[in-house]
Amino acid sequence: MEKIVALCKRRGFVFPSSEIYGGLANAYDYGPYGAELLRNIRNLWWSTFIHKHQDMKGIDTQIILHPETWVASGHVASLVDFLVEDTVTHMRYRADHLIEDWLKKPKNAEKIKTSVVVENMSMVEMAEFIHTHSVKSPQGNVLTDPKKFNLLFETSLGTVADNKAVAYLRGETAQGIFTNFKNILDTQRVKLPFGIGQIGKSFRNEITSGQFVFRTFEFEQAEIEYFFDPEVVDWNILLEQWKKDMWRFVTEFLGISSDNLRWRRHTDKERSHYSKDTYDLDYKFPFGWKELWGVAYRTDYDLKQHTAHSGANLVWKNNETGKVFTPHVIEPALGINRAFFMVLNDAYHEEEVEGKVRTYLKLHPSLAPVKIAVFPLQKDDTLKQRALEVFQTLQQRYVVELDDAGNIGKMYRRQDEIGTPFCVTVDFQTNEDNSVTVRARDTMEQSRVPISDLEAYFFERL
Ligand code: GAP
Repeated sequence: MEKIVALCKRRGFVFPSSEIYGGLANAYDYGPYGAELLRNIRNLWWSTFIHKHQDMKGIDTQIILHPETWVASGHVASLVDFLVEDTVTHMRYRADHLIEDWLKKPKNAEKIKTSVVVENMSMVEMAEFIHTHSVKSPQGNVLTDPKKFNLLFETSLGTVADNKAVAYLRGETAQGIFTNFKNILDTQRVKLPFGIGQIGKSFRNEITSGQFVFRTFEFEQAEIEYFFDPEVVDWNILLEQWKKDMWRFVTEFLGISSDNLRWRRHTDKERSHYSKDTYDLDYKFPFGWKELWGVAYRTDYDLKQHTAHSGANLVWKNNETGKVFTPHVIEPALGINRAFFMVLNDAYHEEEVEGKVRTYLKLHPSLAPVKIAVFPLQKDDTLKQRALEVFQTLQQRYVVELDDAGNIGKMYRRQDEIGTPFCVTVDFQTNEDNSVTVRARDTMEQSRVPISDLEAYFFERL
């Protein structure tokens, strides 16, 4: 993990946010390569799940919705963590995280006779566990009992101080989909089953740190609400279909090794208030198996709640049979930043080359921030000019970087570390035969390719 964080900083993928002010916990900024990688993941998700499906519509809704949305959805009451406080430093921690850390120590694990599933613990059970086993804060101090802490970020609307109304930054993108259900029915020619998806920022006041971009205050979600008639479609079958599609996207499109993936079903105690069944697609992150992507059967809970709270009639009418009912939904919900972290972690490779360690990111070409780098072999004006011409031609079709720093070894190393699949070098032979050297990232194999064939060469490989 330290190596990935260091590479991200060194090469301009991710920077600690507000660094000049000493940083801000759980917040990161994305540099030029990070922004490209995020964009590539987003675009791949959008084209796979929205553009290539006739039954899908993509939308883009607000971060601040009517505050009643979050009362109706149950988030004001139920989007909570259980926090404990260090009685000396008054720092707050998630009770489940401290219990998990305590259990990870071999001498503690030996003391426990039966296996403990922290996800299943109620607030009272966590309090009992902390007392019985004298679980302490990371500073070794006594902890208070756990208390409920709501994760929704509060803000206020309006400019007049005494006329402010509490509002929330959205805790999930899903609610903007439910509140636009009727607009989609009224404006689009949709038939059940169909889905509505969106990508956007969500916000949660998370109390945790040290997990890089895995869990942050501000993060991006790619969510789909897939609406169906439960009397026509078996939700179990639909859920299984979505699981297959999710697995395929991660393994084939994001190029992740299936050894690092698994499904985990939520226990009854752990499931969110709105769900009848939930599975997590977990990835083996550097700190263990953790959720990448969830899929839940949310039933008709949300549409019914919004109908009750808003008075709008959020139902489907089958014009052929006259049947009127509230559709049910399956919801696949992906965290784009977690996908980003996973992709970097899976792509990170080190190998020994001529006694030195070569670090490279074996990114799927569709995800690589830069597809091709073009270099003049030396700082020579004619070579630079030819390299510029090659760069300008390739740039019409691909994201290309031109580097004329002059040291070929350093230029290769830099491109390897940002995962550029191909490097093109213009050398003195180019002046004679109009060919260039193309070097492949993963194999380091070099081939001589005529400049006139470059577009066709890359068309086949990128
Ligand atoms: N609408 C359902 C929902 O929001 P979730 O499991 O809480 O479900 C979905 O969130 C996905 O969003 C997660 O699988 C995860 O990838 C991502 N996610 C949730 N909280 C996050 C956080 N604080 N930081 C980064 N990603 C987060």
